[in-house]
Amino acid sequence: MSVTIPVTLDRERSYDIHVGAHALGELRDVGARYDRVAVVTQPPIAQHWLDETVEYLTQGGADVQVHTMGAHEVDKNLRTVEQLAEAMAEAGILRGDAVVALGGGVVGDTAGFVAATYARGIDVIQVGTTLLAQIDSAIGGKTGVNIPQGKNLIGAFHQPVEVICDSRTLRTLQQREFVAGLGEAAKYASLDGPPGNRPLWDLLAAHAAAITNKDPELLAQVVARCAAIKARVVSEDEYERTGLRATLNFGHTFAHALESLTNYRYLHGEAVAVGIVFASSVAESLGRIAPGSTDGYVELLERLGLPTGCDEPVSREAALAVMRRDKKAVGGITMVLDGDNGVELVHDPRPDALARAFGAVGC
Ligand SMILES: NC(=O)c1ccc[n+]([C@@H]2O[C@H](COP(=O)([O-])OP(=O)(O)OC[C@H]3O[C@@H](n4cnc5c(N)ncnc54)[C@H](O)[C@@H]3O)[C@@H](O)[C@H]2O)c1
Repeated sequence: MSVTIPVTLDRERSYDIHVGAHALGELRDVGARYDRVAVVTQPPIAQHWLDETVEYLTQGGADVQVHTMGAHEVDKNLRTVEQLAEAMAEAGILRGDAVVALGGGVVGDTAGFVAATYARGIDVIQVGTTLLAQIDSAIGGKTGVNIPQGKNLIGAFHQPVEVICDSRTLRTLQQREFVAGLGEAAKYASLDGPPGNRPLWDLLAAHAAAITNKDPELLAQVVARCAAIKARVVSEDEYERTGLRATLNFGHTFAHALESLTNYRYLHGEAVAVGIVFASSVAESLGRIAPGSTDGYVELLERLGLPTGCDEPVSREAALAVMRRDKKAVGGITMVLDGDNGVELVHDPRPDALARAFGAVGC
């Protein structure tokens, strides 16, 4: 299966997302469009996918240079931005050249931010090599790095000119990283229409075992469906102004609290899975979804191999404090909750609903 999904923006900024088992081949066309291409990647990815990437770009006719960065979240920082920019300048990258970000969200965010700022902005092609990147971070133009005061605190909107999601690359991804990405896929499943009429939910539920075993055909279908949902949301609310793009944060309000209170012991997608159970329980207590719906969420997430509760005690007060600081919040706590018409922003859910949700995730 091979599909192209458009992200429709104003003027000439629209771009395509290519999903398929040999999508890397699209890099031949990229190589034909630019004189010079700076590939940014990390050693664990380079080991498996760099040769093919360079080969396609070179076949297209580009002069290709490779820049590697550290392979961890802590490497997503301003020092790395400076090192990459200096290396690109020394290697002669100019305004009309391009960056290819070959990696997961860490490479995509960092290299995307370099592209956003280098020579006041050059093109970036996002080649996502993690499930999270292919369904989320590579699409939509959010780039940036962390500073000690906060995650993603320095950044810019810089849409890619193309997104490439080759499902073969997921084969070499560590299983825990891969399964964590399914937490984001479960989020999209909940955004895929009103309860009971969600094709992506049905796909994940019917083929959970094959998907966790990385069946390439099913994976391409899952990535394509998630990418299409993200593309539609970004097309309609690029700068997060109407509240639509904020619904992509379904499950994230509690997830952010869990991540920060457990010192990032959970991978992001794992925390999102627990956050989805939390949000579902709140929605159920508020009568927004049918009684027992949370059990459905728990069942799907467990079948995908994801956690559905906290495995260490988390202070409710501390979690509420983090949730009040969430960027969606306008004074109190704002959550994205499921309902008859699908997910939407809800301000200040009742304290008893929050208390029951803490119970539902075991903290
Ligand atoms: N820009 C956005 O819209 C957005 C959205 C969500 C998350 N993010 C960001 O994404 C980051 C997390 O990204 P992630 O989950 O993709 O993790 P990641 O980029 O840290 O990758 C995880 C690890 O897997 C390795 N790896 C990646 N692809 C591989 C492959 N195909 N084979 C072997 N190893 C591979 C990487 O080198 C890394 O060590 C966070 O910094 C988060 O803030 C950004």
